[in-house]
This record gives sequence, structure tokens and C-alpha cells, in this order.
Amino acid sequence: MKLLVCGGAGFIGSNFVRQRIVEHGDAVTVLDKLTYAGREENLADVRDSAGFEFVRAGIEDAAAVAGAIEGADAVVNFAAETHVDRSISEPDAFITTHAVGTFVLLEAARASGVRYVQVSTDEVYGSIEEGSFTESSPLLPSSPYSATKAGADLLVASYHHTYELESLICRGSNNYGPYQYPEKLIPLMVLNALHGDPLPVYGDGQQVRNWIFVEDFARGIGHVLAHGVPGETYNVGGPDEAVNLDVVKRIIALTGASDDLIEYVTDRPGHDRRYSLGSEKVRALGWEARVRFDEGLERTVAWYQNNRPWWETIRSGDYRAYYERQYGRSLGM
Ligand SMILES: NC(=O)c1ccc[n+]([C@@H]2O[C@H](COP(=O)([O-])OP(=O)(O)OC[C@H]3O[C@@H](n4cnc5c(N)ncnc54)[C@H](O)[C@@H]3O)[C@@H](O)[C@H]2O)c1
Repeated sequence: MKLLVCGGAGFIGSNFVRQRIVEHGDAVTVLDKLTYAGREENLADVRDSAGFEFVRAGIEDAAAVAGAIEGADAVVNFAAETHVDRSISEPDAFITTHAVGTFVLLEAARASGVRYVQVSTDEVYGSIEEGSFTESSPLLPSSPYSATKAGADLLVASYHHTYELESLICRGSNNYGPYQYPEKLIPLMVLNALHGDPLPVYGDGQQVRNWIFVEDFARGIGHVLAHGVPGETYNVGGPDEAVNLDVVKRIIALTGASDDLIEYVTDRPGHDRRYSLGSEKVRALGWEARVRFDEGLERTVAWYQNNRPWWETIRSGDYRAYYERQYGRSLGM
């Protein structure tokens, strides 16, 4: 199969591309703008594979997209601004990428008559105190990130309804694993713990997240690409829920850091309390998560311990300035 993977140089996209090349022998074109979160290094081990191409462009660039989609059998769109904190301080790029970018991709998929999978998030449903969201739960996003992702989902669904585009939506829960940019909870805590830097916990740390190992989510997206019914949405949630503070304590145990590093900081405005996804629909298609949280977290910590050159360049670059703005203190070297 020949795939156009947008946002394939990011965390989940690069794991997906690796899986498609190694396990399925696909020819993959990655189109990625290479924002701060996109890194060609994430694809270093697969870029010499047969049929691999890399195009540096934004999904909002119609001419670049028209060129990249030529000959593709399907499009999978990961391209997004993904950090909720940044969507609160600088929402502009979220609107461009999620609204305009998704529109441009949908138009290109429609012109080429190819299948289209939109990668989305459980955050479009908002927070839930008990029980789990299903695909028919109302959309109640609470941040500029989740609101623009929800808008993109609605546009994708409309392209099936209006133009009969073979579009599908895959909503994942909180991902973790190798190649995740260190601004996100798990890599942030792992790297700070390895350095002996304070571990900044938002509010009381009692927020609950439904964790999915990135390879499981990538496999779920591939499964929906192959077996999903056009026009449908599929939740792809992880097998375990965990309270944020508990996640931090597990990381402390795995890295041998001290509990004293935990530092409670002012909560994120509008911080959702709990996310939970019911994934029965994608299970009925034959997908199942393989990695439980304990095992996945151990593998993730080991990956960061064994791949210092990957993250040392990030920690010594722009990320330092971002971190100082966000947490009001600097990182150790
Ligand atoms: N990380 C999670 O926990 C999670 C959970 C569920 C769903 N998702 C969704 O999965 C997708 C990928 O998330 P991620 O965590 O890998 O994000 P990421 O931030 O690691 O990667 C995003 C990628 O998109 C690229 N990109 C951004 N704007 C672009 C644009 N305008 N044109 C082309 N490329 C652009 C970036 O350069 C980067 O490579 C997103 O759509 C996100 O909403 C993420």
C-alpha cells in the first residue's frame, strides 16, 4: 500500500510510519511542517526504506499536498498542534492547522478519491466523572486544542456525508512511549527525574487519564484504515487508567529519583479532571491493546534512558525557554 502520512515526523506519526514500513512493507510519503515537535530524527531508522519520501510542508499548503498525494492509496492525518498549554497561550497555529489544514487535506483526498483517516483525541468529549465516552457521546471540548480538533472531526464527517469521501475518524486516549516530545507529562517527568530537576505536578495531581502505549494506538489506526466503515468514528483507548500523581510516583520508582522532587504548581486553566474512552466498537473490528501500563511505562523509561542523544538536543534548545516561561524556573543541564 502507498500511504501519505501527514504529521509523520511527530511522536505518534513516526511510530505509525515505522510500523507500516516494518510490519506491512508499505511505501510511505511523510508530509510534515517540522514544527518544534516534528523531527526528522524520529524517522532516521526508516528513511532509507523502499518507497519512503519526505516532504517538508504544512497541510495547509494546497500545492504541496496535491504533489504529495499523487499515487497514494490513502491519507492518514496526524498533523496537529498537540500541546494543550500552548493552545492556551498561543492558539493561532491550532486554528490554522486543524481547521484550514484539515480542509485542504480533505479537498485533496476528495480530488484523488482516496480513503482518509483523521487521527483525533478523546479530549473532544471533554471531562467525564464516571463511566466512559462512546463514539455517540456529545462533543464538549474545553481547550482551544480540543475545540479545534473537534471542529476538524466535524468537517471530516461532513465530507463523508456530503461528498461520500471514504473518511474515518480514530480518537485515541493519552498516548505514551518512545519519541514523545518532553513537554508532555510522562517524558517531562522521566527527563526531570533523570536530571534531579523538580517534578511539576498541576493542582492536586488527581487528574485521571486513560493511557495507551503508542504502538497500540498506531496499530489501532492501521486497523481502522484497513477494516473501518467509511463515515464512522472509532475510539481507541488504552487498557488502564491512572491518576497523574500516581504516574509521577511510578516514574520516581523506575528512575530511582527522590519523592522530594515533586513540586505542586498552579493548575492549568480549565484542566479536565478525567478522560475515559470505551473502545468496544474498534474491538468488534478485531483490535485489542497489547501493552498494559506497567509494562509500557517501564519500556518508555528504558527508551529515554537509552536514547540520551535524542532528547539532549531538545533539552538544550528552544524547549528550555518554553519550560522557563511555563514553570517559571530553569532546567538543570
Ligand atoms: N499524544 C497524545 O496523547 C494523543 C492522543 C490522542 C490523539 N492524538 C492526536 O494524534 C496526532 C499526533 O499527535 P502527537 O502526540 O504525535 O503530536 P506531535 O506534536 O508529537 O506531532 C505533531 C506533528 O505534526 C506536525 N505538524 C504540526 N502542524 C503541522 C502542519 N500545519 N502541517 C504539517 N505538519 C504539521 C509536527 O511537525 C509534528 O511532526 C494529533 O492529531 C493529536 O491530536 C494525540
